[in-house]
Amino acid sequence: MATLLVVGGSGFIGREICRLAVRDGHEVRSVSRRGRPEVDEPWVDRVSWTSADLFKPDAWRSRLEGVDAVVHTVGIISEAPTDGVIFERMNGDSAILAALEAERAGANTFVFLSASVKPPGLRHGYLTAKRRAESAIADLDLDVVTLRPGPVYGSSHPTLPAPVNTVLRLIGSAPPIASRLGESRPLPVETVARAAHRSAFDPDETLLDVADIRQRGR
Ligand SMILES: NC(=O)c1ccc[n+]([C@@H]2O[C@H](COP(=O)([O-])OP(=O)(O)OC[C@H]3O[C@@H](n4cnc5c(N)ncnc54)[C@H](OP(=O)(O)O)[C@@H]3O)[C@@H](O)[C@H]2O)c1
Repeated sequence: MATLLVVGGSGFIGREICRLAVRDGHEVRSVSRRGRPEVDEPWVDRVSWTSADLFKPDAWRSRLEGVDAVVHTVGIISEAPTDGVIFERMNGDSAILAALEAERAGANTFVFLSASVKPPGLRHGYLTAKRRAESAIADLDLDVVTLRPGPVYGSSHPTLPAPVNTVLRLIGSAPPIASRLGESRPLPVETVARAAHRSAFDPDETLLDVADIRQRGR
């Protein structure tokens, strides 16, 4: 049994990673501002949920004690600049901060959920922040694995409108169409979470693009 901390474990992808890690018998911890999600499933009781803002590491650093791997799944697609919620901070700085904390705590592996493409209509800061974080954490003194998924779909998505989710699922599961989309190919949340979960305990590649995530997350 290993110990995993998911930063953002209550979110769409993060909670699926937590569920898989619990299923495999690992000790699983999560840090997010609201803590435990409102999910009525047995695995939820087996995760140790901490409510904390990752930008205040004093509030959650103790959760890093004895961890083998840290997975970072914090990111935004809409900004609220007056509250400091901007791409540079949430998609970039947050990963750098969490990775430095993981390194300092002696974790073996850090997995970063980056992105392959910028969703339509967003400013470029969405992706430049991700790329800046990728570079900043690449040479830390632990194994770093970066996953770059495109759009991710799944019925448990808290905000994705059901029709959009359905379209993504239809596209993602139709190989003739999906294979032509390359880095924009939609992937099911289960595939992305499996790839992240496996990378946390077996970091044999440093960068997984969409095709690699499909392969690793089978
Ligand atoms: N979903 C996609 O289609 C997609 C595609 C490509 C890449 N990605 C990337 O994958 C990652 C996960 O995406 P997702 O869709 O699962 O996101 P999500 O559902 O919005 O989950 C984000 C998680 O981060 C937590 N969080 C946000 N701000 C925080 C803070 N200041 N301190 C601590 N926790 C905080 C949230 O909980 P609280 O709000 O309670 O804090 C939540 O648990 C992101 O980095 C995203 O950019 C997602």
